Amino acid sequence: MSTARLIALDQILFVLVAAAWAATAGVALAGLRQPAAAGRRTRLIAAALCAAAIVVTALRIPVTLGLARAGWWFVAEKVTLALPLVVLPALASAAVSLPRLLRAPSGGGAPVLSPRLVAFPLLVTAYGAVAGVACGVVISYPVTGGGAAAVLALFAAASVVSWRLLGPVRTPGDRWQAAGTGVLALAVALTVGGGWSGGHPHFGDHAPAQGISVDLLHGASAAAAGGPSRAKPRVRRFTLTAQPATVRLASGPIDAWSFNGQVPGPVLRVRQGDLVEVTLRNRLPGQSVTVHWHGYDVPSGEDGVPGVTQNAVAPGQTHVYRFRAEDAGTYWYHSHQNSSVAVPRGLFGLLVVDPAAPLPESEDHVLALHTFGTRPTLSVDGAAPVEGLARLALPPGARTRLRVVNTDTRPVVLGLGGAPYRIAAVDGGDVPGATDLDGDRLHLAAGGRYDLTFTVPSGPVLLTAGDRPALLVNGPATPPAAAGPIVDITRYGAATAPPARFDQEVTWVLDKTLAMADGLPRLAQTVNGKAWPNIPTPVVRQGQTVRIRVVNRGTDTHPMHPHGHHVRILSRNGVPATGLAMDTFDVAPGEVWEVALVADNPGMWMSHCHDLAHAAQGMEFHLAYEGVTTPYEMGGGNHPA
Ligand code: C2O
Ligand code: CU
Repeated sequence: MSTARLIALDQILFVLVAAAWAATAGVALAGLRQPAAAGRRTRLIAAALCAAAIVVTALRIPVTLGLARAGWWFVAEKVTLALPLVVLPALASAAVSLPRLLRAPSGGGAPVLSPRLVAFPLLVTAYGAVAGVACGVVISYPVTGGGAAAVLALFAAASVVSWRLLGPVRTPGDRWQAAGTGVLALAVALTVGGGWSGGHPHFGDHAPAQGISVDLLHGASAAAAGGPSRAKPRVRRFTLTAQPATVRLASGPIDAWSFNGQVPGPVLRVRQGDLVEVTLRNRLPGQSVTVHWHGYDVPSGEDGVPGVTQNAVAPGQTHVYRFRAEDAGTYWYHSHQNSSVAVPRGLFGLLVVDPAAPLPESEDHVLALHTFGTRPTLSVDGAAPVEGLARLALPPGARTRLRVVNTDTRPVVLGLGGAPYRIAAVDGGDVPGATDLDGDRLHLAAGGRYDLTFTVPSGPVLLTAGDRPALLVNGPATPPAAAGPIVDITRYGAATAPPARFDQEVTWVLDKTLAMADGLPRLAQTVNGKAWPNIPTPVVRQGQTVRIRVVNRGTDTHPMHPHGHHVRILSRNGVPATGLAMDTFDVAPGEVWEVALVADNPGMWMSHCHDLAHAAQGMEFHLAYEGVTTPYEMGGGNHPA
């Protein structure tokens, strides 16, 4: 069974186990209060429930073992806390309570069994099972003392209170005392537990306190670029005006936010080596904006993250971005202010950098997949998005490149039917040794890009996105949609040698857990058990090679996107990868990815999940370079997610 299935099964079992023990304890208590004769039936029902509870509890053991095979990250809190809390009292229940429930005499009038002997083990098992559910919500990886202490305190308090209440003499004073114990334990648990995920606002544990400001890490101006040894670059100037726009889809109009009145914004197409200068003007009422160059490893000061590399650009203001187009390939840009709202609403566009030496393809088109609400669309070469089937006419025999950009927050399965094709580039970078695919489908992460190349056949070609025909080349006949297996992108292309050594190891365990956010515990998308802004900042030194291990313990897919760097994929679930460079990699539930990041772009960077709703729910943090600081602050007007 896959790790993802085991995670789901484990969550179901958790709840089943808690329900089974709660029911057992409840029915047993009822049976004990009844006279021996009348209570016999109830007690037998309790015994049956107890047997069933023992069985579902036992089932958790093989499931946990299966998860442990995928890694300790998946089971740490289960093995150390959640399982012992239910398994040990379950054994006591099986040894003490169950035989008494079964053997209790059916004659006589008065209750015959000691509640402390029969009901107490059952209650404690139920508390342990519920504590196990709480562990799943409160504790991620690594297991924190605070979270564990909070769960244990509540478990212990419930057990103590029950012991007292089950005792022979019960005066009102006893009850008050018991209630007091409960309240006290709750207070202790909250105080202790409060520290489990808070305490490090803004930059986490290790942010540099002094050094050079990110504000000094800018792209050279036109006058300064070039220098003695380099020819003066060609300067390409663009203006992006953020403004409201109406997008007219077949199914009805959409109130969008746009760059230059169009969604997607203009395709910025430049040549490798150009100096790109983009003036951002904000004409959006009541909404600040920035421009982030997704996947383009610009100097940190040009990265467009409010609160990290600049202040958000308020309505009426302007901001100029400058960077040298060093890398060729397919990229995109989007606002990073309130990005979980702004990008879905249309504040994005495409960036294509043509290589200095021309490509072999005579046909070269950019395709932006974007979903407005629930309406999936495709824009071809920056034209208005098409909700149904977009069309393209290409000369048969022409070598063609389709640059597919997923601007959504969810992954998409692509299919190209009607012609053999290759994935020539992934996230902007060429794929060495790209092999022919025929009818195979592709999984494209949120924010990711694939360049697909093929020779136009005499018949039509169909691109599907999800279940939907998206682009028809040379209709009118429609070829069958690609239905082949999904390519494992981590194994595609020719293998390149991994780095020989690593200077630092970082692990990001992704989960959905209760964590402190804005001073309150909330269910958040977490990294190592914490949510923004409490996730400690990894700090690297320029020139280091860092191995990053990303573990997804949760049930959501997380397209991880470190800014300013491409990472090389080293392995997925322990299987070595070919080493493709990606800037957005999709870590599915239960998966473990290892990637290598070469610290070659000093700055203060954002790293986050590109399911932008997840970023807004906490899954964002920084990657800092030793000696780089930022004068900008989060909060106030700056809200990157
Ligand atoms: Cu396209 Cu910080 O993201
Ligand atoms: Cu996510």
